[in-house]
Amino acid sequence: MIETLDLPSGFTLIERAFVDSTNDEARHLAEGGASEGTVVWALEQRAGRGRRGRSWVSPPGNLYCSFVLRPYVEPARAAQLSLVAAVALGEAFDRFLDPAAVGHKWPNDVLINGRKVAGILLESSGLSGACVEWVVLGCGVNVASYPEDTEFPATSLRAEGAKGATVERMLEAFLRCFAAWQMRWREEGLAPVRSAWLSRAVGLGAPITVRLPDAELHGRFSDLGADGALILDLDGGGRRAVSAGEVFATAGT
Ligand code: BTN
Repeated sequence: MIETLDLPSGFTLIERAFVDSTNDEARHLAEGGASEGTVVWALEQRAGRGRRGRSWVSPPGNLYCSFVLRPYVEPARAAQLSLVAAVALGEAFDRFLDPAAVGHKWPNDVLINGRKVAGILLESSGLSGACVEWVVLGCGVNVASYPEDTEFPATSLRAEGAKGATVERMLEAFLRCFAAWQMRWREEGLAPVRSAWLSRAVGLGAPITVRLPDAELHGRFSDLGADGALILDLDGGGRRAVSAGEVFATAGT
């Protein structure tokens, strides 16, 4: 169907012309016993999913892929894989763009010149003992096009002038960077991932609003915790670690 790809060892690629969602496909495969490194890649999604129940508009020309991973760790540690993927994506973009243009927005969006170019959706199984049985890590990259009507401004690699960035080259670069960062994470934990993420964090030290399901918090984005939580210095005083929420620059700043 598609040209042969140069993939790092340890990955088995399943190519599809279209699916509803590569995360759903990967999940079914994981539940059926698919091994670590199974990757579902589709040219188009009919029901792509984003975080917080949003849809992910998925026309042909962009990258849609989901990995089956079996990290044999407890859920909180498995969740760190979304930061691993974000750092790997950022590094993959360096191959096509000026690295200074690439940034990370908490929790795991990757930005180019301040606009979102990629999103990550991590889903995991129930427990087997204390550990998750599998993790599905889905990633969408706007290679050729981006939606205009998003809450946070979006962009694409093409719109940012990325050189030689096709879906195929992007998938290869991402898998290579992910394999290397995943190995580091296994051997050294989150610390090197956290440092790499922080070195390109967008809005560090700036006033932000964090939207939680039932409240909004206002303060300054002061750090990334050792476990990947966002550390917020609250406007009214005090400090809070946030492990899930949506971040916005505070209006008027
Ligand atoms: C986000 O909201 O930022 C996460 C978006 C994740 C989109 C990707 S595209 C491939 C995979 N399949 C899906 O249905 N979603 C993820």
